[in-house]
Amino acid sequence: MTSQSVVRQQLYSYRYYISIAAAVSLVCQQIYRRVFRVPRELRHIPAVPFWRLMVSMFKEEHLTERTNKLIYPLLPKANGIYINRIPVDWTIYVASPVLAKSVLYKPGRVNILTVNGEQWKEQRKIMNPAFHRSMPVGIFGSLLPKAFSFIDEAESKKDHIILVKLTQRLTLESLGKAVFDFEFGALDKEDSEWLIVFNQVLEAFVEDINFFFPQVNALLRWMSRSRREKYNAVHKFVNLLDRMIEQKRYALINKKEPDNITDNEKDLLRLMLEAELRGEGTFTTEELRHNMGFFFLAGHDSISNALALAIYNMAINRDIQTKAREEIIGILGDKHDDVLPTIEECKRLPYLDMIIKETLRIYPAVTDLLARTPANDVNLGGVLIPKGSMISIDVHALHHHPDLWKSPEQFIPERFAEGGEYSKHEGVSWLPFGNGSRQCIGINFTMMELRVALAMFLRKYEWELPTESPHLNGLVFDQIFNLAPSNMEMKFNRRY
Ligand code: HEM
Repeated sequence: MTSQSVVRQQLYSYRYYISIAAAVSLVCQQIYRRVFRVPRELRHIPAVPFWRLMVSMFKEEHLTERTNKLIYPLLPKANGIYINRIPVDWTIYVASPVLAKSVLYKPGRVNILTVNGEQWKEQRKIMNPAFHRSMPVGIFGSLLPKAFSFIDEAESKKDHIILVKLTQRLTLESLGKAVFDFEFGALDKEDSEWLIVFNQVLEAFVEDINFFFPQVNALLRWMSRSRREKYNAVHKFVNLLDRMIEQKRYALINKKEPDNITDNEKDLLRLMLEAELRGEGTFTTEELRHNMGFFFLAGHDSISNALALAIYNMAINRDIQTKAREEIIGILGDKHDDVLPTIEECKRLPYLDMIIKETLRIYPAVTDLLARTPANDVNLGGVLIPKGSMISIDVHALHHHPDLWKSPEQFIPERFAEGGEYSKHEGVSWLPFGNGSRQCIGINFTMMELRVALAMFLRKYEWELPTESPHLNGLVFDQIFNLAPSNMEMKFNRRY
């Protein structure tokens, strides 16, 4: 046998392994191309090196550190535009206030980005007036004394309250009342049935991609007890939403709802159904359920974290806390009693507003806006944005950029004072709620709730971190994606 035929024979006997190796290599090449190589049409834009990004994530570096190391150095290269391979594919990010404005607004009434599906436009048209009318300061204010009783009880036992747990319970109760006039009982006791259900719904939403594919979830629930519990919780919550919608619709049609309530104190569901009855548009029960559910998911953690973080920042900046208290007392007086501020009084608290804005600047709940897709090629600040690509705004990079904000990591509410640092920025540099036509619909609702809650906290208590707190020199996070540490204790001293 010649040596050639020996080799041929050996190759033949290894043919399966060779085919498998070739297939694996092909797949690897494809993965490499798909995952690591920047698509040809985006190669003119500076890219965050994928490996360095992975290392940073693996080391659990804080977003601010990652942005300083990997993103800010890229910005001068393409007028504040860069690309990154997150969340799922290569996405163009804008971190220039001027260009962010052109992305979010319609320059000269020509929309450069297709953000507005017809269905979204139709729904937003009906929801906008409801959110405009709804200013339920009475609802928010009436819940605070209940929250205070937990603080007083803990402090009377020389214990401290876990701040985020309290703000979460308060937020759930206020959303329940303000969205569809339902009492979750979250401020009644720690193990209230609906509090447990809602927390499981949140877990399912955060952890479980199948939240969006209920059929898959229905099958997977048999895999473990915890899956089953979450599945049942989501089911129960959805049923509650449906029941509330049907009941309210029936009550409104049959004139059984109390009619002695002003619009600003009506719940959002009622306002939307009333708009429907006036012929201003229609929602199916399914559309209403999706929207109601989304209000809870969008509003719950973001409001409760913002409230907790504003309180935390005033705990480590006592001078700011004192100044805010003086402003509130100037408007609401210092009688030793809980006073519920009115809408008008809430609007006369400029320093408190600066504190809320500064809190949302340092800790934006949404760090990148939802990606938009241009319908045509667009020239953005001299950079070609190809049609069909994904483009987003890097909110965190804008909120922390040292070229825009002096000492960006410091809590300085005065940045937002009239004539202050913020007023000198061109374009949009502060956008915790997004901006333009798709701005958060809950912005006024959120600001009112934060104003009422903080004003009442400031009148009632002085607060500080306990001396042994790990957060004295900055927040220490227990979980990488948490905005506010879930275990942070706060020491409250009653003023009356
Ligand atoms: C601190 C509190 C909140 C923050 C920081 C926040 C932030 C945001 C952001 C950044 C967006 C996306 C904007 C975009 O991609 O351009 C958004 C959208 C939205 N938010 Fe909020 N949100 C908050 C509270 C709420 C509340 C309380 C509700 C409802 C009760 C709500 C309902 C919505 C809705 C419906 C949208 C979608 C708007 C649309 O696409 O037209 N949000 N929010």
